[in-house]
Amino acid sequence: DKESSVSITVVGASGDLAKKKIFPALFALYYEDCLPKHFTIFGYARSKMTDAELRNMVSKTLTCRIDKRENCSDKMEQFLQRCFYHSGQYDSEENFAELDRKLKQHEAGRSSNRLFYLSIPPNIFINVVKSASLSASSSSGWTRVIVEKPFGRDSESSAALTRSLKQYLTEDQIFRIDHYLGKELVENLSVLRFSNLVFEPLWSRQYIRNVQLIFSEDFGTEGRGGYFDNYGIIRDIMQNHLLQILALFAMETPVSLDAEDIRNEKVKVLRSMRPLQLENVVVGQYKSHTKGGVTYPGYIDDKTVPSDSVTPTFAAAALFIDNARWDGVPFLMKAGKALHNKRAEIRVQFRHVPGNLYKRSFGTDLDRATNELVIRVQPDEAIYLKINNKVPGLGMRLDRSNLNLHYAARYSKEIPDAYERLLLDAIEGERRLFIRSDELDAAWDLFTPLLKELEEKKIAPELYPYGSRGPVGAHYLAAKYNVRWGDLG
Ligand code: BG6
Repeated sequence: DKESSVSITVVGASGDLAKKKIFPALFALYYEDCLPKHFTIFGYARSKMTDAELRNMVSKTLTCRIDKRENCSDKMEQFLQRCFYHSGQYDSEENFAELDRKLKQHEAGRSSNRLFYLSIPPNIFINVVKSASLSASSSSGWTRVIVEKPFGRDSESSAALTRSLKQYLTEDQIFRIDHYLGKELVENLSVLRFSNLVFEPLWSRQYIRNVQLIFSEDFGTEGRGGYFDNYGIIRDIMQNHLLQILALFAMETPVSLDAEDIRNEKVKVLRSMRPLQLENVVVGQYKSHTKGGVTYPGYIDDKTVPSDSVTPTFAAAALFIDNARWDGVPFLMKAGKALHNKRAEIRVQFRHVPGNLYKRSFGTDLDRATNELVIRVQPDEAIYLKINNKVPGLGMRLDRSNLNLHYAARYSKEIPDAYERLLLDAIEGERRLFIRSDELDAAWDLFTPLLKELEEKKIAPELYPYGSRGPVGAHYLAAKYNVRWGDLG
């Protein structure tokens, strides 16, 4: 309804995520005229700040994405005038009641919808939800709460967190964010598969030899060691971002594009998977490395990390889906920090053409000549398919070439940040890209036994130099399943 108002309260407004992602995403939505007519943005945090100071802080992080348009700075000023600040404790019902009074003034008697974005550590989620829900019960529209990972550290703590959230909120008020689901190429995955005849029938064990999900960053935990050491790369990237991509990739055809239909299929895939075993996992940790006269610090050189930490900053794993479609197909994951490049991609390696007439042209290594579909999620978004092709000329020589859909060349429109899409969806009540509690449970059930074993046995990670391609153990793991990592050529 056009006349109702929406308020968006960013709890933890002075934090990194708020500054880097949430406020800029809200501005981009405003800029694109995607926010409702009557909207107000509130920052909430402990530090004392005036509205003007918040605006000043936010303005520093805003950029004009489409900077060619001249009215950007006017728009920015208009946007900032809709931003306000309230300082309060995270566990104070009184402070949230004050916020409630301010929100009411802005709502001016209209039907009021309220979105709270909890950009705060999970150990204070509950306080905030409790305090906020008491005031929210006085609003006449919907109340929704966006929460960020970590959603616990294992099955038990995650279930406990869910239980306490549900004392104050219903499942459909909780929007668990996994920002990888908001990435353009991850959204496109279903389109690519379900709307192309050249892919859809091939999407099974019959034609696909293995699937690889690769995440790498070319920087370490810089400044986040304290958080990171409690979680490690498996919880930080694999159990959520990569597993979510896997579920979307491998699910059965949903009944419709409706959120519940899609999430029903995702949860089925997750529940068909074998819990991870130690023998199918390799862990690594980066060590300091000097290159070109520059010394890059090792993980334990971070002052906030204990010097005997065995927390993995790299992991590779082989996962299996025990259902009719994927029986026996290895899904290999690899995630690491302080590697040689920054990249997130999905690689699908296909089987051989049976009785290939050109077998002789490939020598003994037929595997190198099979088709491979690469979906490069970031950077420089692209989808390309490796095919065999005759090198032009009188002879018969084959090589591998790419059929290439390079986004920057094909589409002139800028790709929105994941947070823009997800915030817009939350405002519109679209739940498709948020994690339902049964999905979260299934995801933890897959990883919890492994995480416990790693921690109980204090498994020492294989050290790899900062800026390298990661531990060699990852190659052996892949080789065990006859797989070669596609990103290493
Ligand atoms: C976050 C992790 O969820 O994702 C970070 O906590 C990681 O460790 C980040 O750097 C990567 O996100 P993106 O969008 O920059 O690839």
